[in-house]
Amino acid sequence: MSEEVPSLLALCLKAITSAIIHGEFFTDIFECYGYDHLQDILDLPSDLLDSVVINLPPLALQTLHNVLIDDCMEKFRTPGEIHGRKRGRYDNFNIAWKILFRKRWPEDLRKIDPRKYITTDDSAGIHNSVKGPLDWQQLYWEKHLQNCLDDAAERALLPSFYGRIGELRISNSIINAISHGENMLDECFRLSYHCDRFGCYARCLRLQNVLCAVEICEMLRSCKLQKLIFIRIISKTQVDGVCMLLNHHRKTLLSLEFIHCQLYPTVMNKICSSLCEEGSLIHGIQSFCVKSSPISESKSSLIPTCLLSFLSSGRLLESVCFSDTKMQPKFAKKILDTLLSSSSDLVTLEISENNISGWLSKIERQSKDFRSLLGSDASLKSLTVLNLRGSNLHSNDAEDLGHILVKMPCLKSLDISDNPITDEGIRSLIPYFVRALGKTNLLSNVKLENCNLSSGGVIELLRSLPSLEEPLNMLSIADNHLGSSVAATLAKFLGASGLRELNIEDIGLGAVGFKELEEILPQEIALSFINISKNRGGIQTAYFLSRLISQAPNLVSINAGANIMPPESVDIICDALKLLKGKLEHLDLSENSHLCRSNNTSALLEFCHQGKPIVMIPSPPQSGTPYDDDP
Ligand SMILES: *[C@@H]1O[C@H](CO)[C@@H](O)[C@H](O)[C@H]1NC(C)=O
Ligand SMILES: *[C@@H]1O[C@H](CO)[C@@H](O)[C@H](O)[C@H]1NC(C)=O
Ligand SMILES: *[C@@H]1O[C@H](CO)[C@@H](O)[C@H](O)[C@H]1NC(C)=O
Ligand SMILES: *[C@@H]1O[C@H](CO)[C@@H](O)[C@H](O)[C@H]1NC(C)=O
Ligand SMILES: *[C@@H]1O[C@H](CO)[C@@H](O)[C@H](O)[C@H]1NC(C)=O
Repeated sequence: MSEEVPSLLALCLKAITSAIIHGEFFTDIFECYGYDHLQDILDLPSDLLDSVVINLPPLALQTLHNVLIDDCMEKFRTPGEIHGRKRGRYDNFNIAWKILFRKRWPEDLRKIDPRKYITTDDSAGIHNSVKGPLDWQQLYWEKHLQNCLDDAAERALLPSFYGRIGELRISNSIINAISHGENMLDECFRLSYHCDRFGCYARCLRLQNVLCAVEICEMLRSCKLQKLIFIRIISKTQVDGVCMLLNHHRKTLLSLEFIHCQLYPTVMNKICSSLCEEGSLIHGIQSFCVKSSPISESKSSLIPTCLLSFLSSGRLLESVCFSDTKMQPKFAKKILDTLLSSSSDLVTLEISENNISGWLSKIERQSKDFRSLLGSDASLKSLTVLNLRGSNLHSNDAEDLGHILVKMPCLKSLDISDNPITDEGIRSLIPYFVRALGKTNLLSNVKLENCNLSSGGVIELLRSLPSLEEPLNMLSIADNHLGSSVAATLAKFLGASGLRELNIEDIGLGAVGFKELEEILPQEIALSFINISKNRGGIQTAYFLSRLISQAPNLVSINAGANIMPPESVDIICDALKLLKGKLEHLDLSENSHLCRSNNTSALLEFCHQGKPIVMIPSPPQSGTPYDDDP
């Protein structure tokens, strides 16, 4: 057989591609000659045009797409002319962009959440978010520009680099991805080319420190940036670059994130003031997040005043996060005071992974401003999510927290995991929980993981929670050493509370606990999700599962990993699943390595929900590796 003969269509496509890509660099020809040719392409019969559009490399599609848009704009301006036929094609362009996106970044397609997609209507000069359909052309070039920036940053990090970042060279593989191997002019290999040409599509960018030179501001001037993520900003020149960029884009910016930066008070002040209008405190930021970046110097307790005014004057501020920032207790309290007294409309507040033990301490409580705050009507009236994970909060902090939580009348989700608040701490919060859960439909998700709680504290909490009109949605008491004695109260609670999600991973239930849970389990359970992993329940885990599956018709997902379940469990679970009428999609039995010794594990894999197997079983042990769930 001879080599495959290229089809006529393929040959034409190649010629068209080449003409489009190279035409654009010779603007003279392009205007008097090439442009007309592009018009000719657009006038092809629609099925032919479709196959051209779908097969063009991104760079050529971009040129053709722009011609169509210009064309439409032209006809818009000429009254009486109908442009329906060509405008109708717009959809096909969007499909072509989506196909190109999927081809280049298949793993990223899933991450794009249409619900989060926002376009900013800044025609009125105000931030006004409207949700629109996904614009794949915009997403394509935004992601492409991000790839170029990351690629260039790697080169700029090399010690041999000095000079202008705009001249950093982009890898061949990236250029090939947009030109499909056409020979490209040298200028296309420069970072500045990509910023100039595709910057207008970028809404959200992530910038490494080396790119935050003052020059970047000029390079990104055509971007309508809504979200910026800065990584490892440390030096003064980098800070200056960041501030210029922020100031330039302050009218469109909605969201800011700093990761692994050094944001000491003077720097923080600079950053915050660069976001505000000249001579005023007004800014349009909705989300402000600092992660793994120190914001206090160890010896000084200086608090950046511009940050405080930034927080108090943010009319649109919805979400604030300081995670792992070496924040001192005083600083944390100052932030809370500021937010409380400014009556902001904040929805989400996270102060996590900081040692803020004593932040609301009694000494402070006696001070005048704190007392007046408590007595006043100051409140965080819109706050819905509060996350204080890993903040070294003790029982007295929990008590103080109780006074503050009543200032958050709309709180739905509270996470105080990874704080040693102990039983004493949880006791002091019980009055708050009873109140917050008594009012219908407010507090609905509570996480108390790894809080050094014992069964005493948890039993008291569960007993004091009233049976609720609007059920609690989610409770996690995972990673507390509660032991089997919590089982009876827990079983009763499951019946009365209408709880939908329960996480009791690693609470030391053991076989005795599971047996008790199984025996007392009420007839009607509302649960849809449960995590009972790492509880060393043995065969009793299987008996409990069997009963749970029959008494909780809404169950969707069960995590029963790492419970030392013996091989016989397989048959017990099989029998239970045979009677399944419910909605179960997922039963995780991983890390129960003995199950592999059963003859019937294959029977488990036959249970499916919408074609996907429900049960996840452990992979057979590798010879030589010990069972990690053996005592
Ligand atoms: C937390 O901060 C307190 C002082 O505020 C200090 O005594 C304590 O050692 C710190 N704990 C940790 C784990 O850093
Ligand atoms: C947990 O609480 C007990 C007292 O209830 C205390 O003795 C113990 O030190 C605490 N453990 C941690 C890690 O805080
Ligand atoms: C449930 O348990 C597994 C361990 O088997 C853990 O990895 C997972 O994070 C837990 N899931 C949730 C939602 O807490
Ligand atoms: C498990 O396998 C045995 C034979 O090894 C068979 O007798 C028994 O019926 C099987 N159990 C189930 C639930 O399929
Ligand atoms: C599996 O089957 C073999 C023989 O068919 C039997 O000897 C063995 O006991 C069975 N194992 C289990 C766990 O049922």
